[in-house]
Order: sequence, then structure tokens, then C-alpha cells
Amino acid sequence: MIERAGLALVALSMTTAAALAQPLADCSQGRNAEIRMQACTQVIKGASFSVDEKAMAYRNRGNARADAGAGGQAVADLTEAIRLAPGNASAYAGRGRARLGLRDLDGAISDYSEALARSANSAPFHIGRGHARLVKGDADLAIADFTEAIRLNPKSASAFNRRGLAYRRKGDLARAIDDYTAAIVINPIYALAYNNRGYAHEFQGRKDAAIADFQVALFLDPSLVGAKDGLKRLGAPPDYMAESDRRVREGKALVEKNCGGCHAVGARGPSPNKKAPQFRNLHERHAMLALREPLSRGIAAPHDEMPKFTLTGAQIDTIVAYINSLTPARPSSGWKPSIVPIAEAEEIGDPRKGLSYAQKVCAQCHAVSGRQATSPNANAPTFRAVANTPGMSPTALAVFFRTPHSTMPNLVIEPEAMDDLIAYILTLKDKN
Ligand code: HEC
Ligand code: HEC
Repeated sequence: MIERAGLALVALSMTTAAALAQPLADCSQGRNAEIRMQACTQVIKGASFSVDEKAMAYRNRGNARADAGAGGQAVADLTEAIRLAPGNASAYAGRGRARLGLRDLDGAISDYSEALARSANSAPFHIGRGHARLVKGDADLAIADFTEAIRLNPKSASAFNRRGLAYRRKGDLARAIDDYTAAIVINPIYALAYNNRGYAHEFQGRKDAAIADFQVALFLDPSLVGAKDGLKRLGAPPDYMAESDRRVREGKALVEKNCGGCHAVGARGPSPNKKAPQFRNLHERHAMLALREPLSRGIAAPHDEMPKFTLTGAQIDTIVAYINSLTPARPSSGWKPSIVPIAEAEEIGDPRKGLSYAQKVCAQCHAVSGRQATSPNANAPTFRAVANTPGMSPTALAVFFRTPHSTMPNLVIEPEAMDDLIAYILTLKDKN
């Protein structure tokens, strides 16, 4: 009798545990942002969750809202996460990122400092604070942060690229070029580092070197309209420009049709929906960042008012190209490319880590290395073939990985591994 009651109790508590475990798991690992958001709200509202679990839920929901561009709500969620679990460094870093989007630079810097006070050896937190300091104009302090990030992670191409920008801000072009080059050596497909080095060469009057860099940048990423403009300025042959122009045209048509009801999509005028940011000002919200990552996150994020779009990676690339073409108004005379270019880098993947992850997780079906001619699973394309699919881009891969696939049913790629994988696969792109 006692035994039976015990068993029933165990069974009961197991179902309760399972019912509680699902939203917790979905709130941190749900397949898409929408599932994650709903699960986090469930945890926040539920009576049976612990304070730590609620803190985690506020943190994850806040980060998802920051992705959606809903900065105020994101800050509110992350503030609550901090109140519930003041020892958690990543909640501070998340709020720092959200405040950066709101142009609260001092708030962002102080949040990243709080994060570092709790986790001093985090390269990403140093990069975050360095970035906020650079946007604020404190180049020396920014350099100190990026240097520390490089000491902690000498393979961070992004830290080198950003320190390059900080040196450039100080007018030290030689050091800037060294840092961009270091970033390129670590990651040979880093389009933005080529682009930034192109500007530095151009400013030094080294026309051929500038053209060579802009061409590689545009080859790797035709949505980098800044590189295309550089080539035009320098009178280079129009090799890669056509693809870029095509994207701008198609992106314009796409946003006029789908986004103009809420966002100001052109060069003038307010947004019909006051809460929807003007596309021409997205550069300010993501100061000194390349727009590809924030845009693809923003479009995929669940919004209160924006409908859910299912755009392909190629379509998102055209939108990125179009919005990149909406460069902020330049002073009518005397504009020089010495003004820090818009394009800058997000933390991007490390191809070496991507390869080792792929060997562990993907190699049972796919030919993972560039030399293998056939895949173990005949239906699975080789990664080299994937990389050389026309129109293949980081966005296309990211969209593919975020969508569930019947042939790869249980494959959930961890967010951290995703960027590494994308970086690795794109190294397999043939040069011609
Ligand atoms: C029905 C209105 C509506 C439509 C249509 C719409 N949006 Fe939005 N969008 C919003 C609002 C409102 C926000 C602000 C964030 C929020 O409130 O969730 C937003 C935010 C965004 C953001 C995040 C901005 C940031 O700071 O990172 C991106 C990116 C975006 N929209 C892209 C698009 C694109 C691309 C389209 C067309 C394919 C589109 N939106 C169509 C209403 C809309
Ligand atoms: C159990 C076998 C299996 C595993 C494991 C697997 N895949 Fe696949 N994958 C396939 C098959 C089969 C296809 C082709 C059919 C399809 O597109 O759905 C495919 C298609 C793809 C494609 C799309 C190619 C295209 O051009 O449409 C990509 C990209 C991809 N896989 C990446 C990965 C990555 C990255 C991993 C590891 C993280 C992985 N796959 C693990 C079986 C697998």
C-alpha cells in the first residue's frame, strides 16, 4: 500500500516534472525564436518555477526582444533578470547590447563593465565594451579592450578587425592595416576585413591595393554595397558590380511591396507605423556594425506588430544590399572615404572550430572536407557542393540551419556552433 502510494507519487511528480521541463527546455533551446519566446513567457508567468529559472527566462526573452529591435522592452526584461540573479554576467552583457541599440552608450559601457566584474576573462564582453567605447569615440579605451580580447582569444578575427577600426579612428593607418590583415589571416573569407582594409589603402592613395581588397570583399559578399562604391570611385572594371546592383534592385522591390506599410523604406519621410524604424536609420541603431546579422535576426525574430515573414536567405541578402545602399546622407562637398565606413563586423565564426564540429556531427552523412568527392550518405550533398551552390551566402546557410528538415530530423545546431560552421563551409567556395 505504502509502496503503491509511493509509486503513484513518483509517477505524478514525474509528469509534473515533465510538464515543467518542456517550457524550460524550449525557452533555452526551442527550434525557433517564436517557440523560445512563448516558452519563456510561460516560465515567467508560471507559479512553479524557481527564481533562477525565471531569471533565465527573462534573460532569453530580453535577448530575443533585442533581436527584434524592441529595445525598451528588451531592457525591461533584462533589468528584471538582473534583479532576480544579480550574479549573472550575461544578463548585464545582454542589456549592454540592447542599450547600444538605443544609443545609450554610457549605459552600455557600464553594463559591460558589470558583466566583466563578474566574468573578467570573457573576450566577447571586452569586445562588447570596446565596441561601445569606439562608437562613443574613446578610441584608446576601445583599443585597450580589444587588446585584452585578443590576449584572451588570439584567434578572434573580429577583435582584430575592430581594433583596426579603432586605430583608423585615431589616424594610425599602418596599425589599422596590420590588424585587418591579421583578421584576414585568421579568417580568409572575412569580407568586411577586406572591405575595411580597402578603405585604408584607398586613403593612403594605394589604388591597386584598394581595388584588390574591394574586389575580394565584393566577391565574398555582393551585398557589401560600400565595396562596390569603392570600386566605382576608383574606376575599377565592373567585374563583380552587376550582382551587387541586381541585389539592390530586387531588394528595393521586395521592401516596397512587403515592408513599406510600416517602415519608411526610401530616402525620405517618416515610417507609417511610428514604432517601426526607418530603414535608412538602421545604420544608427547598429552603429559600425554590418547590417546582415542584425537584419536577418530582426526579420526572424517574433514581433508584437510585425507579421512573420518567411524570406529565403537569398531574399534577405537582397534586402541587406538595398539597405546598405541607403547610406546616410554625405556632406554635399568634401566627403572623404576617411569617414569610418558603415560596414563593420559582428562576432563571426571560426572556420577551424566549424570543421571539427562538422567532423563530429555532420560527417556520418556529408563529405565534410573539400577533398572528399562523395558523401557517406549518397543523398547528402558534399559541403564543397553546398558552398558552391549559386547564391550561397552566410545568410542562406543561417536560414537553412534555423529551419527544421525532414532528412536531418534531430539535428539542432547550437547557436555558438552555427557561425563556426557557416564560416567553415564558406571556405570551401571555389575561387572561380
Ligand atoms: C505591420 C508592420 C510591419 C511590417 C509590414 C514590417 N515591419 Fe519590421 N518592424 C515593425 C515594428 C513595429 C518594429 C519594431 C520592433 C517591434 O516593435 O517589435 C519592426 C522592426 C524591424 C526590424 C528590427 C530593427 C532593428 O533595430 O534591428 C527589422 C530588421 C525589420 N523590422 C525588418 C522588416 C522587413 C525587412 C520588413 C518587410 C519584409 C518588415 N520589417 C515589415 C513593423 C513592421
Ligand atoms: C543523418 C544524416 C545527416 C546528417 C547527420 C546531417 N545531414 Fe545535412 N543533409 C542530409 C541529407 C540527406 C541532405 C539532402 C536532402 C535535404 O536537402 O534535405 C542534407 C542537406 C544538407 C544541406 C542542404 C544542401 C542544399 O543544397 O540544400 C546542408 C547545408 C546540410 N545538410 C548541412 C548539414 C550540417 C552542417 C550538418 C551537421 C551539423 C548536417 N547537414 C548533418 C543528411 C544529413
